[in-house]
Amino acid sequence: RFHNKIPEGLRRLPGPKPLPIIGNVLEVGSKPYLSLTAMSKRYGDVFQIQIGTRPVVVLSGNETVRQALIKQGEEFAGRPDLYSFSFINDGKSLAFSTDKAGIWRARRKLAYSALRSFATLEGTDPEYSCVLEEHICKEGKNLIQQLNTAMKVEGSFDPFRYIVVSVANVICGMCFGRRYDHHDQELLSLVNLSDEFSQVAASGNPADFIPLLRFLPNKAMKKFLDVNDRFNAFVQKIVSEHYATYDKDNIRDITDSLIDHCEDRKLDENANVQMSDEKIVGIVNDLFGAGFDTVSTALSWSVMYLVANPEMQERLYQEIKDNVGLDRTPLLSDKTKLPLLEAFILELFRHSSFLPFTIPHCTSKDTSLNGYFIPKDTCVFINQWQINHDPDLWKDPSSFNPERFLSADGTEVNKMEGEKVLIFGLGRRRCIGEVIARHEVFLFLAIIIQNLHFHNLPGKPLDMTPEYGLTMKHKRCHLRATMRARSEQ
Ligand code: HEM
Repeated sequence: RFHNKIPEGLRRLPGPKPLPIIGNVLEVGSKPYLSLTAMSKRYGDVFQIQIGTRPVVVLSGNETVRQALIKQGEEFAGRPDLYSFSFINDGKSLAFSTDKAGIWRARRKLAYSALRSFATLEGTDPEYSCVLEEHICKEGKNLIQQLNTAMKVEGSFDPFRYIVVSVANVICGMCFGRRYDHHDQELLSLVNLSDEFSQVAASGNPADFIPLLRFLPNKAMKKFLDVNDRFNAFVQKIVSEHYATYDKDNIRDITDSLIDHCEDRKLDENANVQMSDEKIVGIVNDLFGAGFDTVSTALSWSVMYLVANPEMQERLYQEIKDNVGLDRTPLLSDKTKLPLLEAFILELFRHSSFLPFTIPHCTSKDTSLNGYFIPKDTCVFINQWQINHDPDLWKDPSSFNPERFLSADGTEVNKMEGEKVLIFGLGRRRCIGEVIARHEVFLFLAIIIQNLHFHNLPGKPLDMTPEYGLTMKHKRCHLRATMRARSEQ
């Protein structure tokens, strides 16, 4: 259907020749961020592959991606109707569903303002500038204790397992007004399953494109359905509790504020976008899901990079020791005093590119890009990994070098360089949790580095190979940590 009628003056998309039934699945392989980056060298910034029988346009290159997502944002802001997406949040996800533009925009606005107001709210403790800072600092300090205990009891620990609970607690605090113990089995079994979610929701999962595969036994898909069911049940239970105790004069958290919005709207006869209560309150599901998996993946990779780069770990510790000291908790206002840490985070985002593709996009009408014709309803992959490793943008892109983001004297972060890193997407679908995420990664890391020194286990070399998924994880492993001595001051 896509090879017919190319409007005059436009060209047909280039790309590899597809095989019948499977299309280009074999060439795309198990590491699409590498294979599609290699293809972009051959076919250019805009090319087409076929997964199964469905055409997919792949976009690379800083200029081209900015042109599509910013200048032609409206035309590229949709989501494709993929099989796996229909199970996320019961098909009512803000991030993954095919909501019409009007509904999606209204929900996104609501999600954004709920997040912002519950992050910037005053905390209970005047030491902190906002409730977000308070949650992160308290969870950060608790994480140090947990890791210290794990070292004493077991002699090593799995970093992801602890980090994910601390991060989940920050978003749980904002969404549900509660936190969980590090040994809470219900939460642990949920957050430890995020790998399975991520692998199936990844760009280019053949089961999304080849209907036949849905009817064959598929372990990954079965687990994915199970994870989604359990996730929905977990959130549903908390939401029901909120409905039962809701008091419009005491809005406790994001869930309450969404319930409140439903109530207000019932009084507002002029509301122009009709949305079910489920679609409104269901937003909290997206915020919780997106809020813990991404940030814990970023932090867990950070610890791996610290271990892999011991000199950098030492310099980051010295920077904190010299500019914050060792006898108080780092705060968000310390950011400008810690340029090396900020550069380390930017380099972590760039080098790991742990979110290699954005969530897939879809064209909302016939359009064109760089002179190529792209029909309405075409699925579009945005290759963030390619941009973060493009030798035209970065010197020696494969080396891990935070200093590339620092001024020559090392006292300032080069903002222009930092903005070249693409990990939160761009334009209308850009991540709505970006500010919160950057705050969390900065503050958790500052607290961790101030208090702990990480090493690998003797004779156990680090494996930094990412496992492909919507968010790419490192393999689960065990590390060691030693407490930094306070008497060093
Ligand atoms: C969407 C990255 C943290 C909420 C996205 C997208 C990316 C992304 C790449 C898709 C953009 C696109 O489709 O073009 C990240 C990274 C994070 C992070 C790298 C952490 C380091 C968060 C947090 C929250 C959040 C903490 C919420 C508390 C969302 C939501 C969407 C989204 C709701 C869907 C937006 C839409 O479809 O309109 N994020 N994110 N994210 N993110 Fe994040």
